[in-house]
Amino acid sequence: MDSFFNTFPPYQRDIPGVFQLDIVRNNARFPSLATLILINSTGWTPVEYEQAKTFLSPPELSYLANLQFPKRLHSYLTGRYAAKLALLAQTGRRDPHEFWVDRSEFNAPIVRGPAQTNISISHTETWAAALAFDCRSHMGLDIETTDRVIPDPFTRTISGRELELCQNCIAIDNTNQNSYLWTVKESISKAINTGLTVPFHIFEISQILVQNPGIYARFKNFSQYGCHSTAFDTIWISVSTSIHRQITQ
Ligand SMILES: CC(C)(COP(=O)(O)OP(=O)(O)OC[C@H]1O[C@@H](n2cnc3c(N)ncnc32)[C@H](O)[C@@H]1OP(=O)(O)O)[C@@H](O)C(=O)NCCC(=O)NCCS
Repeated sequence: MDSFFNTFPPYQRDIPGVFQLDIVRNNARFPSLATLILINSTGWTPVEYEQAKTFLSPPELSYLANLQFPKRLHSYLTGRYAAKLALLAQTGRRDPHEFWVDRSEFNAPIVRGPAQTNISISHTETWAAALAFDCRSHMGLDIETTDRVIPDPFTRTISGRELELCQNCIAIDNTNQNSYLWTVKESISKAINTGLTVPFHIFEISQILVQNPGIYARFKNFSQYGCHSTAFDTIWISVSTSIHRQITQ
């Protein structure tokens, strides 16, 4: 089993508001599985926006320049900044301009650059997060505020079994259970690169286990994936990941 969230709360980096979590595999010849970067972007100053922009590559700057809405501009910039920090930390490289985070036809982020590394991105109004991981794994990241009111089309698909699993889990309560289920399902939808363009019910959860720290969920229809979640500050962080066979260097 990989060690997720073992070092939470994460240590503070030299850049204010940036947290880094290194995700490792126990007993492995391939220890550095992924790097999660979490950024608190509340009250960013113009200087901080400019600092983040210096991490973007020319195609990313062009995309940013064409964005009309401040909310989207903020989410794109903070998400790409988190992505660059995660890519640098995961690969050990130093120049963020070596990487360009492009997008697929389904809007999934695609890393162009010198390393065989993939990325998953998520944002809320106040947090941005990115997970950089070895391209031999399949992973998806989602964050959400714990008290977010989740839309009806999603909540209608929550099964009786899932409600029962949440009620029996001491780490989840009525006020944050929908938001927890949402992050678990969004994270697997990103791991398989469809996003929520498929019926929600296919992501039904079959098992929830309490880990220390965090929660681990398994899926009814995707036995090849599991989802690690933890509550941090005001958000849930969920990472769905392929269940690893032996990977050697
Ligand atoms: C992909 C999706 C699940 C993201 O959820 P979200 O709540 O909008 O936003 P998040 O901040 O958590 O994630 C956004 C990031 O997901 C990533 N993403 C988008 N599509 C993706 C896909 N198909 N696979 C993997 N990652 C994807 C992107 O990196 C995006 O950030 P960026 O645009 O800045 O690069 C969702 O937007 C989606 O599937 N939309 C299409 C279908 C839809 O609108 N359904 C209605 C839902 S009620």
